[in-house]
Amino acid sequence: MAAAFYTLPGRWQLLKRLRLVQNLPAVKLHLTGVVMAATEAEFEKAKDMLKTLKDDPGNEVKLQIYALFKQATQGPCNSRKPSMLDFVNKAKWEAWNSLGKTPKEEARQKYVDLIETLVSVEVPTQSEATATGDVKSSFQTINVTTENNITTILLNRPAKKNAISVLMYEEIMKALEQAAKDDSTLTVMTGSGDYYCSGNDLSNFTNIGPEGIEQKSKNSGELLKKYISHYIDFPKPLIGVINGPAVGVAVTVLGLFDAVYSTDKATFHAPFSKLGQSPEGCSSYTFPKIMGTIKANEILLFNKKLTAAQACELGLVTEVFPDSTFQKEVWKRLHAYAKLPKNSLAFSKQLIRGVEKEKLHAVNTQECERLVERWLSEECMNAIMGFFEKKSKL
Ligand code: COA
Repeated sequence: MAAAFYTLPGRWQLLKRLRLVQNLPAVKLHLTGVVMAATEAEFEKAKDMLKTLKDDPGNEVKLQIYALFKQATQGPCNSRKPSMLDFVNKAKWEAWNSLGKTPKEEARQKYVDLIETLVSVEVPTQSEATATGDVKSSFQTINVTTENNITTILLNRPAKKNAISVLMYEEIMKALEQAAKDDSTLTVMTGSGDYYCSGNDLSNFTNIGPEGIEQKSKNSGELLKKYISHYIDFPKPLIGVINGPAVGVAVTVLGLFDAVYSTDKATFHAPFSKLGQSPEGCSSYTFPKIMGTIKANEILLFNKKLTAAQACELGLVTEVFPDSTFQKEVWKRLHAYAKLPKNSLAFSKQLIRGVEKEKLHAVNTQECERLVERWLSEECMNAIMGFFEKKSKL
């Protein structure tokens, strides 16, 4: 325990724990009105239970444990306050000293209560994980798994080249919300089959319900805005593992990822003007910023399809790997990254994103407003009809 004392705390976990841990024993003691004294045997058992904890409870809880242990075994703090620069021992001394004249018996009981609470919250945590697993497995268009500190969102409509249907938009948002809160360090998005993703499912435009075309267009604009906001606000590193060609919104949103690894078989294509549409995913801002306006225009205005090597050269892709070793090399790297301190990674990402978050939301709003207009335009309707007509003639 002592050796792991100053590892970085799991912040979300810590907050959860502190709420549970600090309140529960206090409530218990308060309700009884009498401080029960744990027996020596209970105290010894608690010490053993502490060794079985799987999750790091975080520094603050560990300080509480330390202080209660010292108070229970040695009584009130009687050592000299360590120097200001001796951070670790000073924090420990302060935690112990803060217990004042709390009797040994009371400290022993509180220590036992605290350890029991910590152990018991690990059980709900496991069942919570199962519950989350249920939700995850209920997805129809994606698969979500969490392993080795990595949550992977697998786009899973290979027969449609992973085109994003309305349901899939909703499910990806839900998966991102869950990944933002789970214990993983990294979130990875990748595709099943030969494509990474062929962008917006064009049949989203043709399935017009009783709401009428104008309302449908507005609803689609709202949905897209919400979808892109999930990427803008995503709080931890989001990595694209681009296993094959990417089209449309699957390309534009990459400017909001924190790293993008690609097979050399992938291509990157955003054929907006061909479809009478306009850029989304904040690409009207991120692409010129990443690669310069002159290069971004070729992609966003003139439908230039990039090879993976070109996308890498322009800064849209972090690194390209030969297809034969792609999965092996990328996952090896991701597993190493996932061992880095997760809070440090998340806070660093948030600092980098924070600088322009407001700007990105404003760009997202503008892009979606323009698209609502575009989707109702003749240029767009003709292009979409053309796609499905061509299909029906094959
Ligand atoms: N929307 C709706 N359906 C799509 C789709 C999309 N974005 N991308 C692929 N599909 C469907 C095809 O209609 C086809 O369905 P079917 O089997 O029921 O006919 C199936 O996925 C397989 O695609 P297919 O076109 O047969 O494969 P391909 O290898 O010849 O071409 C693409 C793949 C992605 C190049 C081609 O499907 C395409 O151009 N899709 C549209 C991409 C697009 O414009 N996205 C929006 C950008 S804003």
